[in-house]
Amino acid sequence: MNIVLIGFMATGKSTLGKALAKRLNWEYLDTDKLIEQKAGCSIPRIFAEKGESYFRQLEASVAKELASAEKKVIATGGGFPLNPENIHQLRPSSLIVCLTAAPEVIYQRASRDTNRPLLQVADPLARIKQLLAERASCYANADLAIDTSLWDPEVLIADILAEMKRRGLRIDGDC
Ligand code: S3P
Repeated sequence: MNIVLIGFMATGKSTLGKALAKRLNWEYLDTDKLIEQKAGCSIPRIFAEKGESYFRQLEASVAKELASAEKKVIATGGGFPLNPENIHQLRPSSLIVCLTAAPEVIYQRASRDTNRPLLQVADPLARIKQLLAERASCYANADLAIDTSLWDPEVLIADILAEMKRRGLRIDGDC
């Protein structure tokens, strides 16, 4: 059993993923970090030098490798569910949780860094709204969706643990 966090950029997947992994005493993995290890360079450099389609190929190969994961909390890049095969690889062994947030909140959070090549445009908020609309059906493909706009990690973790219990999934420490 694993927890896979999907959702748009800056919805809190990495931060919440780390906290949830700690709570469950499971290992935390991040597909973007695994891609960077595979490529031997940063995501902005992969996009700049090899293009988005090469990045998506690496993402798909990381998804295949994670199909046998066990007791992992896996934070995925925002475009991970665009390829249905990526979700298909992980669904049998995972609870798939989609984190959401209002476009303005995403914009505020994402404006703090320059590591997201897809948002390095003149009008990032318009781009966020456009991508959210294009990707809505991919993000809808989750077992549970949680809005992280009002950021309270304890409440968000409690929501995920409650869903695990509701589905009869064992949490370490439970009888
Ligand atoms: C992307 C999201 C990024 C990263 C890459 C592409 C996307 O991850 O995978 O820049 O297509 O939405 P985060 O969601 O962690 O920012």
